[in-house]
Amino acid sequence: MRDSANPRAIQHNVMQHTKIAIVGLGTVGRGVARLLLEQGDRLARHAGRRLELAQVVVKDPAKKRKVAVPPDIISTELARITNDPEIAVVVMLIGGLEPARSIALELLAAGKDLVTANKALLAEHSVELFERARELGRSIAFEASVAGGIPILANISQCLSANRFESIHAILNGTSNYILSQMEAHGASYAEAVSEAQRLGYAEADPTMDVDGSDAAQKLAILAHLAFGAHADWNAIPRQGIDTLELADLRYAKELGYRIKLLAVAQRTPAGVELHVSPTLVRLGSSLADVRGADNAVSVVGDAVGRVFFSGPGAGQMPTASAVVADLIDTVVGRTAITFRTLELWSTATPTVALSDYENVAGRYYLRFNVADEPRVLAEVAGRLGSEGVSIASVIQHEAAGSGEGVVPLVIMTHNTTEGAVCRAVDAIDRLPFMRGASIRMRVRD
Ligand code: NAP
Ligand code: HSE
Repeated sequence: MRDSANPRAIQHNVMQHTKIAIVGLGTVGRGVARLLLEQGDRLARHAGRRLELAQVVVKDPAKKRKVAVPPDIISTELARITNDPEIAVVVMLIGGLEPARSIALELLAAGKDLVTANKALLAEHSVELFERARELGRSIAFEASVAGGIPILANISQCLSANRFESIHAILNGTSNYILSQMEAHGASYAEAVSEAQRLGYAEADPTMDVDGSDAAQKLAILAHLAFGAHADWNAIPRQGIDTLELADLRYAKELGYRIKLLAVAQRTPAGVELHVSPTLVRLGSSLADVRGADNAVSVVGDAVGRVFFSGPGAGQMPTASAVVADLIDTVVGRTAITFRTLELWSTATPTVALSDYENVAGRYYLRFNVADEPRVLAEVAGRLGSEGVSIASVIQHEAAGSGEGVVPLVIMTHNTTEGAVCRAVDAIDRLPFMRGASIRMRVRD
């Protein structure tokens, strides 16, 4: 049907227009621009008005981009946005802290509502940005900052708001999950899998934040604030990444009936909320073990609802753009303003929830030591674990391969113990003369 013959299209022609701007036209920005430019009718139906992409600000306007944004609206001049009173909402899709923070403050001061996917910015400067937005009567929407295309923030803060949350176990970094999946399924090397994740647009500009657990810790800090009211300094969240693991660990995990996932955990304890990020052995066949590629998952336990499991694409251009554009529509129609005012997130006026000590967190552990193939090694390792009260559940030591030069991996699964006890024992073992290289320590989730 031609537009002129379609009564809904005629209605759209007389529809109100709302001008939108984007700052940052990289992986996610291009996805948002594509939805705005190619799916205008669909978005207009949901927003009750047409969303007009009026300005785009980038670092390098000469860069070739695979998106049909009219060149005359692309510039480096933020003033084109701040000086246009008809631009109501700005989508901020540049990464990192600066100049993202200064640009966000400038846009708020110019009366713009913001939509962002920048979790690093929120994890570091949420109090400043949210207090400023409240002072100025503006809003900040940030669904895309956690778990990409999965609408987890709306679910936690709105759909599940009747609950007292007990725990969250989540896979929050698509890049790490992609790397682990590629290594396990295709025997890809760690380096190959990292560069493929970069090529596919999953990784941060500096992928170190993805693989060392920082990105997941930033997202966990945001989730923990929404679910538990915790004001966590993301940098203080105990975290380990996947950057020290080897293919051998994935194989040992499988032999033991597990798969390794980078888990972000928030759980209520008698002493407060405990947060950590660590590579974890999860049981083969469990929902978390089946999350593959760049997908993310969030398993939430609430006192009324019980356990709810969300999974889906956690990174990448269009899944993230899906969440950004939904926020954009919510902002344009006024829904964001209501939740923003009601929830009072990251307010200095709201009481904070205590964070509990990671040292005392209980659980089982997977340990791998590369040791010299000599007498008394196993006895010494067992002795150091025993001195800290860590009990051994099972041991794997395969015979050294012919060219192994007398070094063998010793893999130990422990019974239930605490993080503190395991760390002390492993520190002591790492100093023993027969150790060859650093040890690996991972939590086990049965
Ligand atoms: P990206 O591909 O690196 O794109 C960043 C964009 O920001 C580029 O267009 C760049 O301009 C622009 N930019 C950088 N500095 C600027 C400045 N000073 N002024 C104006 N523009 C500037 O990043 P991305 O992957 O789209 O990610 C954007 C944000 O979304 C990040 O915070 C990221 O953490 C978050 N996020 C990403 C994903 C994902 O899957 N990629 C998922 C969820 C959240 P030029 O193009 O001219 O260089
Ligand atoms: N680099 C991030 C990830 C993008 O891999 O999860 C999504 O936030």
